[in-house]
Amino acid sequence: MSLLTESQLLKLMVDTHGARFDGRIWDAFDNEIVPELPGEPRIVDLGCGPGLFLYDIHQRLPDSKLFGVDASPAMLEVADNLGWSSVSPRLEKMVLGETLPFGNATMDVVAMNFFLHQFDYPLPLMAEVSRTLKPDGFVWIYDWARKPLEEYLNFWNVEPELPDFPVDRPTAYKLFGLHNRFSREDWRYLLAQAGFKVAREVSRASGQHRLMILKRKTEVALG
Ligand SMILES: C[S@@+](CC[C@H](N)C(=O)[O-])C[C@H]1O[C@@H](n2cnc3c(N)ncnc32)[C@H](O)[C@@H]1O
Repeated sequence: MSLLTESQLLKLMVDTHGARFDGRIWDAFDNEIVPELPGEPRIVDLGCGPGLFLYDIHQRLPDSKLFGVDASPAMLEVADNLGWSSVSPRLEKMVLGETLPFGNATMDVVAMNFFLHQFDYPLPLMAEVSRTLKPDGFVWIYDWARKPLEEYLNFWNVEPELPDFPVDRPTAYKLFGLHNRFSREDWRYLLAQAGFKVAREVSRASGQHRLMILKRKTEVALG
């Protein structure tokens, strides 16, 4: 069920990108992940939307090999036309469910931004993330964390500042259930169930948005 049209969601993702991906988010990326990456890292963004996260990485790490997957042709069209200065990402239109179109242990980073909360039962997809990730790779999950209704509704009053944006009060009420599925504790629990531990966490928007950078709970034997 989508409460916003494709074009409304696209506008929301583009207009809020700068606020969502602020300096603290990139500090976490630069400090926690970048020092561990190989020279030409392979990074995939699941539910990449208009591709702006991949574009930011492209500017920071021009030698990275980037992949984006999304179900929406309109989102991918924007991503495809971002003005990539060197190699473009491989963008794939696919409705993700329980499989990923990548080989075993092929990714240094698997990212999901405001994506995983859409899954009622995320563990099969997380098992695929684990299969796809290199043994010492990172999972990057940036998503909604559950808060009380009043705090959630207030989010839409104070940020982002979106003139003419159609998240009015009835829409915000309807989005509450979708965005408030997992609390911070729920995320930690389900990610541990999937075999991951939180290496670094960043909170913004009064804790309603949480970045969790994950490593495997146990070492994976190579070979
Ligand atoms: C809230 S948007 C986030 C987009 C982008 N990650 C960002 O943060 O700007 C969610 C995205 O997930 C995509 N999506 C939703 N369900 C999907 C699925 N099952 N498979 C692939 N993409 C999906 C939508 O098309 C949309 O682009």
